[in-house]
Amino acid sequence: MAIRRIRKDGDEILRKKSKEVKKIDDKILTLLDDMAETMYHNDGVGLAAPQIGILKRVVVIDVNDEKGLIELINPEIIYTEGEQYETEGCLSIPGVYGEVKRPEKVIVKALNRKGEEITIEGTKLLAIALCHEIDHLDGILFIDKAIKLEKRKNKEDWS
Ligand code: CO
Repeated sequence: MAIRRIRKDGDEILRKKSKEVKKIDDKILTLLDDMAETMYHNDGVGLAAPQIGILKRVVVIDVNDEKGLIELINPEIIYTEGEQYETEGCLSIPGVYGEVKRPEKVIVKALNRKGEEITIEGTKLLAIALCHEIDHLDGILFIDKAIKLEKRKNKEDWS
């Protein structure tokens, strides 16, 4: 496992659309491991592959709940319900925070590391993290959707 360098806003790769994973090989498994290590090292609650410069549809999330580490390959939002407004941040945009409108609940379909189809239901912070990370796979950053942005010096970077 290795900690990878996080790409920061202004890096073109963050604006590109990631490609679907066709085959879950050792390279993808190593990517998942490295992404989890990089996320935990940076105290994040989520990380998408383009944030470490890899344009593949791979996401890791851990919002410190009973679900623990969530690894998603080719995630797709298949259901949303309600709405919530919470402050978000991003490991690729350090020191910047903003309120974003997200669904209150989402259901996501994806593959796990064994290639099995899974569905994951998230509310509150998990719903936000799922939406935020899947946006990264389409080159969308939370600052594109934030109602207002603010800069803070304290370290609360998250995804
Ligand atoms: Co982010």
